[in-house]
Amino acid sequence: MRYAHAPREVVLDIGPVAHGGHCVARLDELVVFVRHALPGERVRARITEERKGYLRADAIEILQPSPDRVPAPCRYAHPGGCGGCDFQHATPAAQRDLKADVVREQLARLGGLPGVDVTVEELPGGPLGWRTRVQYAVDQHGYPGFHPARSHEVIPIGECLIATPAIRKAPVTGRQWRGVDAVEVVSSSAGELSVLTRLGRGRPRVVSGPARVHESAAGHTWELPAEAFWQVHPESAGTLAAAVLEFLAPQPGERAFDLYGGSGLFSVPLAEAVGITGSVTLVEADPAGTAGAAKLLDGLPQVHVVTGRVERVLEGLGEADIVVLDPPRAGAGAAVIEEIVATGARAVAYVACDPAALARDVRTFRSYRWELAGLRAFDCFPMTHHVECVALFRP
Ligand SMILES: C[S@@+](CC[C@H](N)C(=O)[O-])C[C@H]1O[C@@H](n2cnc3c(N)ncnc32)[C@H](O)[C@@H]1O
Repeated sequence: MRYAHAPREVVLDIGPVAHGGHCVARLDELVVFVRHALPGERVRARITEERKGYLRADAIEILQPSPDRVPAPCRYAHPGGCGGCDFQHATPAAQRDLKADVVREQLARLGGLPGVDVTVEELPGGPLGWRTRVQYAVDQHGYPGFHPARSHEVIPIGECLIATPAIRKAPVTGRQWRGVDAVEVVSSSAGELSVLTRLGRGRPRVVSGPARVHESAAGHTWELPAEAFWQVHPESAGTLAAAVLEFLAPQPGERAFDLYGGSGLFSVPLAEAVGITGSVTLVEADPAGTAGAAKLLDGLPQVHVVTGRVERVLEGLGEADIVVLDPPRAGAGAAVIEEIVATGARAVAYVACDPAALARDVRTFRSYRWELAGLRAFDCFPMTHHVECVALFRP
């Protein structure tokens, strides 16, 4: 429930960070999730929402600041402003520590695995200017913008500082886009810039720039439909591919599955490693994703592409030696993990963009007596609370 009366202001002592871009404080017996604060601070906060058993609040005045606090570089990163960046008010090193705390806490509470050693590794390039795909919502007058936290409202945005310079210069914001729900800008590693519009659940329409863009990672170049999934930080694709390969240590002749494989970011290096006597089966639901794999995979006959949903097709694929999965935010879920376990794989690399979903799936792996044998975490989304993990599981 949104706060029904005049918003209440309270003084709070801020406790630890919690998953979702906020910290935990207490008001009498109630838990309060506070945005725009940092652990150890004393703040004046405005209650923004009352729920059964807990409150939400925004820090509006910092009475005792944390040594990790810095002025937010973005003018939209304030209470009631853009909800995209949760941690602009913390140093980049402190942001990574906060994310490490969250991964550790989620693994302990949801995964039943306390005391896991977690370090969030920095990617090159700094905290601003990294985002290569930006999707703007459109307000009722047609102006592109972003949503505040936990709101469907759209705040028109002039310039998003975490976007690449090419996206910031693109003539997209500050003008009206009639008859569309969203405008998306893609800046590829080859320097292409494409603008797409979205209406409902229909296919996006490319309104300027190329319909296919080129992305390079792990020594290869992909030609993808502009709307296809690609990692949004320019260093993510190569970093994640290297971490997956290191964990799985694929051997010539092995059978590999690349589940939720997109355009084959992991299939291509896996195929090289298992060679012509091995095989890689890429499973991806979005035809735009598998279309992005097509050209590269021409030269790799050991890769088989299955366009379909993992939960529907995995059972029919038989056995594997190694598996990589990179599911969307909801995670793989118990049924898919059961199928992965049934492949008889010797090792599974799990790429996870939500530590809560990862932790729930950790619990499922452990129920089959599989162990979490390795974990790396990367700051693929600086300034936000998001973090990417790569976990290694072994039976
Ligand atoms: C996080 S992306 C990873 C893509 C790829 N591994 C990469 O890093 O470029 C997740 C992918 O899973 C696909 N996907 C979502 N749900 C799926 C499902 N149930 N079965 C198969 N693919 C799915 C999405 O289309 C998306 O391409």
